[in-house]
Parts: sequence; C-alpha cells; structure tokens
Amino acid sequence: MKTYITTPIYYVNDKAHIGHAYTTIIADTYARFKRLQNDEVFFLTGTDEHGQKIQESAKKNNTSPKEYADKISNEFKQLWKNLEISNDYFIRTTDEKHKECVKKIFLKMYEKGDIYKSEYEGHYCVSCESFYTKTQLLENNKCPDCKKDTRILKEESYFFRLSKYEKDLLNWYKQNPNSIFPTSKKNEVIAFVEQGLKDLSISRTSFDWGIKVPLNDDKEHVIYVWLDALSNYLSALGYLENEEKMPFWQNAIHFIGKDILKFHAIYWPAFLMSLDLPLPKCVAAHGWWLINGEKMSKSIGNVINPLDIVNEFSNDALRYYLLSYMPFGNDGDYSKHLMVEKINSELVNEFGNLVSRTISMAKKYFNLKLSFKDKIYEEEKEAKEFFNLSIKAIEELKFNDYLSNIFKALKIANSMISKYEPWALIKTNQNEVESLLISILNIIKNACILLSPVLINSTNKLAKALNIEIKYDLLNTFIKEFSLNECEHLFSRVELKEEKMLEEKTQKQEEKAQNDHITIDDFAKIKMQIAQVISCENVEGSEKLLKFELDLGNEKRQVLSGIAKNYNPKDLVGKQIVLLSNLKARTIFKHLSEGMILSAKNQDESLVLLSPLTPCDNGSIIG
Ligand code: ME8
Ligand code: MG
Repeated sequence: MKTYITTPIYYVNDKAHIGHAYTTIIADTYARFKRLQNDEVFFLTGTDEHGQKIQESAKKNNTSPKEYADKISNEFKQLWKNLEISNDYFIRTTDEKHKECVKKIFLKMYEKGDIYKSEYEGHYCVSCESFYTKTQLLENNKCPDCKKDTRILKEESYFFRLSKYEKDLLNWYKQNPNSIFPTSKKNEVIAFVEQGLKDLSISRTSFDWGIKVPLNDDKEHVIYVWLDALSNYLSALGYLENEEKMPFWQNAIHFIGKDILKFHAIYWPAFLMSLDLPLPKCVAAHGWWLINGEKMSKSIGNVINPLDIVNEFSNDALRYYLLSYMPFGNDGDYSKHLMVEKINSELVNEFGNLVSRTISMAKKYFNLKLSFKDKIYEEEKEAKEFFNLSIKAIEELKFNDYLSNIFKALKIANSMISKYEPWALIKTNQNEVESLLISILNIIKNACILLSPVLINSTNKLAKALNIEIKYDLLNTFIKEFSLNECEHLFSRVELKEEKMLEEKTQKQEEKAQNDHITIDDFAKIKMQIAQVISCENVEGSEKLLKFELDLGNEKRQVLSGIAKNYNPKDLVGKQIVLLSNLKARTIFKHLSEGMILSAKNQDESLVLLSPLTPCDNGSIIG
C-alpha cells in the first residue's frame, strides 16, 4: 500500500523549536511505523517561503526575501538531519517546479469558474496570513487566533468560490469519521462551516513576494500564500507535471498543529474538490506545547531548542518524551523535570535494566545461546495482548497509548524476573530458566520491533544484541533459539542540569562553610572576660575612640574602643562589659590598648556594647 505522510511546511521567519519538532517527529514516527508494516511511504516536509510576513521579516533583517529564505530553509533541513528525520523529500515553495504547479492549479480553478475578480475590504493578520471579518475579530481588531493587531485591507483581489463547497464539505466531514482527527476538532470545524462560508480572497496586490497570478492582465497580483503553501502537498508529487508520485495521493495523511486546522480542514479540501481530486484520508491536528500555560512561540520568546535536549539527553529520549507525554490533540506544558523522570523510570529502569539483566543472565547461565525447553509462560501471551493494543493505538494516531502499551508489556517481563527468581531456580531447574529467559526475550524482541519507529538508535543496538532483524512479520514469531550478543549500553540515568548545578553549588557552599568554621581548639585560643569600667574618657584628636580603664578582678587594664559616637563616656562608668583579654597589646593614637571591648554592630553601623544580663564577678571567664 502507498501512504503519503506530510508535516506543515514551516515558515522561514522562525527558528525551529520543539513545537515544530513535535509535528515532524510525530510524522516521522508514523512514517517509520508504516514502513515497518511494509507500506510504500512518501514522507514530505519543507518550508513555506512566500508572503507578506516573510517579506517583512527579511526587510527587518536587512536582506532580500530569497536570501533570508535560503538561510532559514537550510537551517530547517539541517535540524531535521540532526534529529534523524526520515523524510523522503524536502519541498520549498520557492522551487521553480512548485511555482509552476501553483500557477497551473490557479488556472485550473479559474477555468472551472471557481475564481472571480472583485475587491476585498476587511481585516488581515500578517502573522497568521489570514483574512477575518469584523465579527470574527477580538476587541480592538485583534486577531482571534494569535491575538496580534490586524490591518485593514482594501484592494482588488481574486476570490475563490469557497461558499460553493459548503455543503460538500459538511458531507465529507459527516461521511468520513476519520476525515479530521481528533473528533473534538472535527466537531469544531463542522460548527464553523455550519455558520456559513464566505468566498475567499486568494490574491494580494500590496506586496510582491509571491507567485504571480498567471493571467496576462494582472501581473501585480500575487497568489495568496495559503493557496501557494497548501499546494505543496500536490506539487511535491509532480501534480500537473510528470504526475509520477500522484498514486500516493490516494492515501494522504496531513499532520498539523491545531493553529492551522481551518486552512487544512476547510480551504484545502475545497481547493481539492475544485481540482476534482480525492480528499485526504485524514487531517490530524495535535495540540500545543506550552510554557507555563502559554503557547511556545518565537514572538513570546519562550522557545526550547530541540537540539539542546538532544545534546543534554539523547534523540531517542526527546522523541520518547514528546510522544508519550500527552495524548494527541491535547495541549501540554513542557517540563524538563518530568522528562528526566520519564527517562529514568521508563527508559532506564523499565526497558534498559530489563535488557541488561536478561542478557547478563543469558550469558552467565547459557553463554548467550539459548534454546526453548517446552515451557510456555502465560505472561508472554498477556504481553502479546498489550503489543496488539499498541498497534491499534498507533493506527488510531494515539501515540501515547501506543507507547504506554509497550511499556505495560515490558512491566510484565520485569515482573517475571522478580516472580520466578531465575538466580535461585537455576540451582534446581536449568531448563525452566532457559524457557523463562526465552519468553522474556520474546517480549523484549517485540518491544524492540514496535519501539523502533521511536527509539531509533537504541532499538538498533538491541536488535544487534538479540541477533534479529527488525521486521514487522517477526512480531508473530515466537523465537525458540537465541544466539545473543552482548548489548551496547542503551540508556543512562539522567539528572537535570539545573539540579546538578544546584547540588554542586550547595556542596561547594557546605565545603566553604566547613572551611570558614573554626574548631573547638581554635575557640580555646580566645580568652574573653567580664570587666568593669573604672573610668572612661574621649581620646584627644579622635572622634571615634574612647579610652577605658577596666577592672578584671585581679588586674587593671587600659583599652581603647571606637564607640565614642554611640556612648557618652560618663554613662559607662561602673558598667560591666565583655573584653577579649588575650589580644596582643597595640598602641593606638599613642595610647596602649590591651584587649578589645566587644560590641554588636547594627545594620546602620551603630555599635552596642555587650554586657552580662545580670552582674557577675569582674574577670569571669566567658566560654
Ligand atoms: O503555519 N506546539 O507554519 P509555522 C506544537 N507555514 N506545535 C507547534 C507549536 C507549539 N507550540 N508551534 C508551532 C505555518 N508548532 C504554515 C504552514 S502548511 C501548508 C503551511 C507546529 O512555521 C505545528 O505543527 O507557523 C504548527 O501547525 C506549525 O508548527 C506551524 O508552523
Ligand atoms: Mg505559526
């Protein structure tokens, strides 16, 4: 069977982030799964390079639209390479072949009578490249989709007779349960179309970065960027040219984000009806990746670069997290913390550890060569049911259920090890352990095959260890003989970089604190005593210093202290204070000072003398 799988073609005004990677990874996983099922797959992605938005972005970057598009389009290509995306073709709307195809499409619709010239007057959102009626706008004429300001347009325009296809569209949705997925999104589209469709403006005259309308007298019109962009799905197949790949069109599935559902579920099928072409088998619209509840987007500046995640963890881990985290169609908050948890508990513990324990037992007990000894474990059949559920789930585009069912099967394999304790059983019944390991290896084998569209690198390593080829047909074969190889390490435990840094910082602080602290021996060197002020006076020539004569019980001392600004010398006579009494004597302002009077410093730098709470003997030792 031929299957056609597409992603949106991404605008070249944005750096790609995990939102874009999400769609592409979903499509890539589905493409790999269909190839696994021996379908002939044509998997397409690319870049959307025309329109006012790109023209304005290029201008802001002081470059021509083509140069700008070349640069960012290349970045997308490179990114998909780095993310090991298996697209069969990469289309650019600036490709000559594409431009020719769009012109032919325009003419075909025109000749059919579905295009007419009139004047457009209304609002336009450049960010969404979309027209809105006054009633669709939010307050202050904001765009209902991206909430940005719209512009008022009044220009001559060609129109497509969208209204003509209203009934046919409604029939299509209703007669084809899978036309739009998920169903909730289909219902939204039906409700929208039921309110009535207006004809669609499909050319613009106020800028020129686009494909010219192919009618002789109208060279200043460029074709509306969404008609141009959507046509990529046909031009990539050679439509109206060599038609070479058109057979793929019979079975097309478009993966998109919900932000562009209107274009794919309303305009696109209407264009296709006008061209007398079959409609796609499915338009599948997923939800958004959010950051703290807000859509991840360049204009908000909250984007996560997928390559950062690949570098920190791995590509397999990124793919696994994006696909398993939220049901297709739902929005979800991106959380690195949860990603780390998922990697550790599912990939490392549930999968990686199972593989390494099983293979190391197979090595220890059977020197990596095992053959079946007639005991069938019921658990292997239970696991098989989860594998079947997993296949059903991915066929229904429920990517998270697809993965969770595989992990349920792996859980069964793990529980077989703890239940039958092969390390104990080996002492009494070697044959049973051999059969047990073979059952477990068959579960691992099926997990390896079914996970191969997602964990593209680790399942390759595992297949080498199992000595199998990853083939769909092998799912239904119970392998009775294994000649294993040692397995390369599959997954490493990960830690949040931020947490690791925090931990290191705390550790350093603790070490530093340890160094800052003194030992009890250090403290023993200090001698502090209570002393009573016999007399106290200002020091000539100093604003700060007071000169004290102190009574330490069996000796008298002269000490200088810098607290003249805080105390009147007279008030201190007779008071008991705390003296650091074994400080080396110093001469300050020509006066000998034998010790240091302790005081506390307030935040405003003012000083407060320390004194015992109740009177005590002069010379009493403090400690
Ligand atoms: O709309 N979460 O291109 P675009 C999930 N050129 N997916 C996201 C996302 C997020 N936060 N942000 C973006 C266009 N995406 C048109 C398409 S197709 C004929 C023309 C993904 O660069 C999602 O797939 O704005 C969304 O539909 C797409 O990027 C929009 O990419
Ligand atoms: Mg966008």
